Amino acid sequence: MDLTYVTYACEGGIATITVNRPDKLNALNEAVMADIDAAFGHAKADADCRVVILTGAGEKAFVAGADIGELAEQDVRGGKAKSLRGQAILGRIENLGKPVVAMLNGFAFGGGLELALACHLRTMAVETKIGLPEVGLSIIPGYGGTQRLPRIVGRGRALEMVLGAQPIDADTAFRFGLVNRVAPRAELRAVTEELVKPMLRNGPLAMGMAAEAVLRGTEVSLEEGLRIECDLFGIVSSTADMREGLNAFLEKRKPTYRSA
Ligand code: COA
Repeated sequence: MDLTYVTYACEGGIATITVNRPDKLNALNEAVMADIDAAFGHAKADADCRVVILTGAGEKAFVAGADIGELAEQDVRGGKAKSLRGQAILGRIENLGKPVVAMLNGFAFGGGLELALACHLRTMAVETKIGLPEVGLSIIPGYGGTQRLPRIVGRGRALEMVLGAQPIDADTAFRFGLVNRVAPRAELRAVTEELVKPMLRNGPLAMGMAAEAVLRGTEVSLEEGLRIECDLFGIVSSTADMREGLNAFLEKRKPTYRSA
């Protein structure tokens, strides 16, 4: 895999994808976005990868937003196309089929926070701040922020963040339910690994389908959501992994899953 702005490393079932453009606080230009997309494509295909942790290089930033230099040059058509491209990449992360945790080691602003919102879980360093500052620049969030943020924290809190455009600290983010764990930066990796540790033992296919049921089901009526759940329950019942998981319990041994 030939990447310039992202690194990929997989160890003990955990793939770490690091956005690596620290001189620009890991800001997302088109080349960075393409590398992120490629790295997640690799994680999806990597049989050793059970869980992904996404983070930013350097001490200061997770991702400080979309590249403002690129934004400054866009017109109507370019702006819409950029938004669509970014949304598609973040959609592929959300639908990876493997758990993805955004580890917010530093600033996550604008597109950086939107990238984190497309991940399934988030952890955050107490020393940092996150937010959607776009309207302060007279643009709006374009990588799903206006849609995913209210779905996670509720409309009132989302509108406070989107319209106020003010950064929030880790305590507030935790209180909003926006991040799952908060820790001092020096302990953030260990805390994030604790969060994902149980997922390394779980059935990989089942985790993918359970996440799909939650993500698709919360977008539709309860009735339709229950239909999605039972369809996926049927599909999971056809897998060798399901038989292995249940038999391992009955035989009092650890399961060995074929899928990853
Ligand atoms: N796009 C492009 N470049 C960015 C960037 C972005 N979103 N965020 C930071 N950078 C660049 C800066 O221009 C600077 O580059 P330079 O050294 O060539 O001048 C470098 O990253 C370091 O940033 P700097 O502003 O000097 O760091 P700081 O610690 O003083 O401030 C921030 C950090 C995050 C508060 C500040 O960089 C910032 O406000 N960034 C923009 C955040 C934003 O509005 N994001 C949403 C965009 S829609």
